[in-house]
Amino acid sequence: MDILKKIEQYRFQEDSLKWEGTFADYLHLLKEKPWVAQSAHSRIYNMIKDAGVETENDRKVYQFFSHQLFGLEEALEKLVEEYFHPSAKRLDVRKRILLLMGPVSGGKSTLVTMLKRGLEAYTRTDKGAVYAIKGCPMHEDPLHLIPLHLRDDFYEEYGIRIEGNLSPLNTMRLAEEYGGRLEDVLVERIFFSEDKRVGIGTFSPSDPKSQDIADLTGSIDFSTIAEYGSESDPRAYRFDGELNKANRGLMEFQEMLKCDEKFLWHLLSLTQEGNFKAGRFALISADELIVAHTNETEYRSFISNKKNEALHSRIIVMPVPYNLKVSQEERIYEKMIKESDVADVHIAPHTLKVAAMFTILTRLKDSKRGDVDLLKKMRLYDGENVEGYNLADVNEMKKEFQEEGMSGIDPRYVINRISSTIIRKGITSINALDVLRSLKEGLDQHPSITQELREKYLNFISLARKEYDEIAKKEVQKAFVYSYEESAKTLMDNYLDNVESFCNKTKLRDPLTGEEINPDEKLMRSIEEQIGISENAKKAFREEILIRISALARKGKKFDYRSHDRLREAIQKKLFADLKDVVKITTSAKTPDEQQLKKINEVVARLIDEHGYNSTSANDLLRYVGSLLNR
Ligand SMILES: Nc1ncnc2c1ncn2[C@@H]1O[C@H](COP(=O)(O)OP(=O)(O)OP(=O)(O)O)[C@@H](O)[C@H]1O
Ligand SMILES: [Mg+2]
Repeated sequence: MDILKKIEQYRFQEDSLKWEGTFADYLHLLKEKPWVAQSAHSRIYNMIKDAGVETENDRKVYQFFSHQLFGLEEALEKLVEEYFHPSAKRLDVRKRILLLMGPVSGGKSTLVTMLKRGLEAYTRTDKGAVYAIKGCPMHEDPLHLIPLHLRDDFYEEYGIRIEGNLSPLNTMRLAEEYGGRLEDVLVERIFFSEDKRVGIGTFSPSDPKSQDIADLTGSIDFSTIAEYGSESDPRAYRFDGELNKANRGLMEFQEMLKCDEKFLWHLLSLTQEGNFKAGRFALISADELIVAHTNETEYRSFISNKKNEALHSRIIVMPVPYNLKVSQEERIYEKMIKESDVADVHIAPHTLKVAAMFTILTRLKDSKRGDVDLLKKMRLYDGENVEGYNLADVNEMKKEFQEEGMSGIDPRYVINRISSTIIRKGITSINALDVLRSLKEGLDQHPSITQELREKYLNFISLARKEYDEIAKKEVQKAFVYSYEESAKTLMDNYLDNVESFCNKTKLRDPLTGEEINPDEKLMRSIEEQIGISENAKKAFREEILIRISALARKGKKFDYRSHDRLREAIQKKLFADLKDVVKITTSAKTPDEQQLKKINEVVARLIDEHGYNSTSANDLLRYVGSLLNR
């Protein structure tokens, strides 16, 4: 569809959502849709919930966040279960400021932005609709019009609790514009928009000395005093501070802990009592979520200051740690690259994965369990199968350190290194080695990294490099086999036939001559030796495999070469061992002969067609693996 048509359609949609009526009409509407009177906290919770909740390993995964925040499922579950959900139920946490605490570039701002954009969209849906007194700069809740002494009756009839008093401005308007007839007061549907300053505010402290509290709570409009005669006339006041504008929705308080105390005191009363003081008026009721973010150091210094005690008790701190899963970290990079201007550069397969391995290693803490090194922990955290470990082990490891994920390398650093490599070299294709090199160079220039940490990180770079070497070798060897999956399957079937006849002490039949033959001991051993199974252990290994086959068969499942990790590894190694010389000679030939050339072209084509390389990265890979195999 052409863009002008879409614009027209959008306008039409927006128009069709509009609603305006008297307060009496609004009450009517409430009977039908009582949820539109929900509190700001409740609306935010429902927005998150309505986007869908999935369960994964006994964990709730909130879909609302899942298309932009990766690997933070646990932190987000905690945030929803311990803050949003109870605050939606009007429990006490609602009266606290939500403070997201986490390391730099860990996704705090992204999270807040998602809530803001989410609310803008949600208030355009039926479930998220919001109504306000028309013409009120703070989009006051129409239900505030109901006098205090009638609120119990209202609750009985509508089942809705009203909190907060009618603001000074609307009290005056009710008297002057509507002659006290509250049923006539005009109400309209509002749509949150940060740009239009409806329901969403952002407060960012500037210089503490010059900053005006007016930015937060509004100010007197001196030009109108002459007209209204007095500074305490609410019409002479501009209710245009961020707290005013964010009423009914959310206010982001940037750099809250760096802020001057006098600003924070306003928040104290707002969060605790649901109202704040502006100008010379009675307290103004407001209903909004206040969310701030900070890093650990800043937070520690804040709470160590006695003066902040009162505020501290009104803050609820939610950790937003770094993601600790390699595969999710890759997704973060992919997302960030897509958003950047280097999006059209070819990134060879495994490049981001290898960078992510390095990053995750810098974030992990050494387990106290002697049997788990960092690489193993990295794999386990990412949900990989590691023989001898299960989910319970992973959960146990996660409980070892509270602060895991609160330090290490941030995603922005990695993306910066990747972009600088691309831009500096003007290249159109990068691979894992380019990125590791660049990460390494970057460490030298990094101002905040101590010598000791640098040593440690350099070690992680070489670990990641070793992992890459293995991946690269496997990739090339696989591409050398005409059809890897098929060859693996054939070899496996052959092995299993022999194992079966060995264990059952039966004979095999030669497929050609039909003759009875003994199991092929040489073949079985040549596979088992690949994973170091000794002569003495071979019987137990073979029996274990047969048991696995029948266990699977009982569940109606078929054993294939992926069913048994060690056997799979053995089969792979055997296939590669048979090929090793061919691969080695072909990839490292300085002047390949005709046949080698043909093979190289075939392999390059396979890497391009089936594995996502381009011709530069495929040829680089072959050359690199050639050099590895000749070491
Ligand atoms: N877990 C994650 N999932 C998806 N993207 C992430 C994640 N962590 C960081 N990012 C990406 O990293 C970049 C930096 O994140 P963001 O600005 O939200 O971090 P921050 O915690 O606010 O950092 P700062 O402390 O520097 O303000 C963003 O592009 C963000 O999308
Ligand atoms: Mg931020």
